[in-house]
Amino acid sequence: MDVTAVAVAASRAIETDGNHPLFEDDFAAEFVRAAGLSEVFPVSHTQIGRREDAENLRALARVTALRTRFLDDYFAEAALDQVVLLAAGLDTRAFRLAWPAGCTVFEIDHGPVLDFKQTVLDDADARARCDRRPVPVDLRTDWGGALLRAGFNPRRPTAWLAEGLLPFLPPAAEEKLLDRTDELSAPGSTIAVWATAADIRGADAAVRSTIAGFGIDIDRITHTEPRRDARAHLASLGWTVTESTVDELGERYGRPQRHHPVTFFTATLA
Ligand SMILES: C[S@@+](CC[C@H](N)C(=O)[O-])C[C@H]1O[C@@H](n2cnc3c(N)ncnc32)[C@H](O)[C@@H]1O
Repeated sequence: MDVTAVAVAASRAIETDGNHPLFEDDFAAEFVRAAGLSEVFPVSHTQIGRREDAENLRALARVTALRTRFLDDYFAEAALDQVVLLAAGLDTRAFRLAWPAGCTVFEIDHGPVLDFKQTVLDDADARARCDRRPVPVDLRTDWGGALLRAGFNPRRPTAWLAEGLLPFLPPAAEEKLLDRTDELSAPGSTIAVWATAADIRGADAAVRSTIAGFGIDIDRITHTEPRRDARAHLASLGWTVTESTVDELGERYGRPQRHHPVTFFTATLA
C-alpha cells in the first residue's frame, strides 16, 4: 500500500473528527486502519494529542483540510460531467460530492492502491454518487490509452485533478503528463494542480521528520530535479492559469494560517 496516500487519508480523518469540519470523509479513518501499517497514523484529535509531534501532525492536517475543501469547491464550480483524478489515491470525492447528472469520474492510480481502496469501500457498502471508473495504470507510461479504453471521451470538457502527484514524477514524466492531459482536453476543460516538485524541497524539516517516522522517506520517493514550471508549461499550451496561496485559502475558509509556501493553481482551456 502506498503510505503517502494513507497519510493524506489520515489528515482527512482528523478534519472529519473535528468541530465544524470543512468536509466530511467518512471512509478516511477506515483506510488508515485497514492499511495495517506498522506505525499507524493518528486519526482523531485525541490520538494526536497523545504524541510529542502533535503540532507537526496538526499542521499537516490543517493544510490538507484547506486543500481538500478548496478542491471540492473547484469541482463544484467547474460543474463538468467528466472528471479525471490523476493519482486518485484514497480520494473519496466520487462518494462525497454532489456531481452533475450523468457524471463519470475516472480514478487513475497504481493497481494495488485501487484494489485496496475498493476492498475497504466494498466492506463499507459505499455507493458512488457518479459513474466511478478505477483505471489502474502507471502515470509514467501510456496512461492516456488506458483512460480511453476505460471510456474517457476526449470530445467532452473534463475537470482534471493532479493532487499530490507531481513531486512523485521525474521531470520527463511530468512534462509528458501535462502534454497528454492537454491533448485529451476538449475546449472548456479545467485542471487543478496541488504541489510541485519544488515545494518538496522547501518542506518544513520538522514535518518531514514526523512523516519519516511513518516510513515516508521524502528524499527517496520524490523527484526534485529541476524541471520546467508546470504553470508556464500549461500556459504555453494555451491554458489560462490562476494561482492562489494557502494564506488566501485560510482567509476564505475562516482558518487563518501561518505562511505555507506550497504552489497550487487551476487552469482552464478556452
Ligand atoms: C500523496 S498521494 C495523493 C493521493 C490523492 N491525490 C490524495 O490527495 O488523496 C500520491 C498518490 O500518487 C500515486 N502515484 C505516485 N506515482 C504514481 C504513478 N507513477 N502512477 C500512478 N500513481 C502514482 C500514489 O500511488 C499515491 O496514491
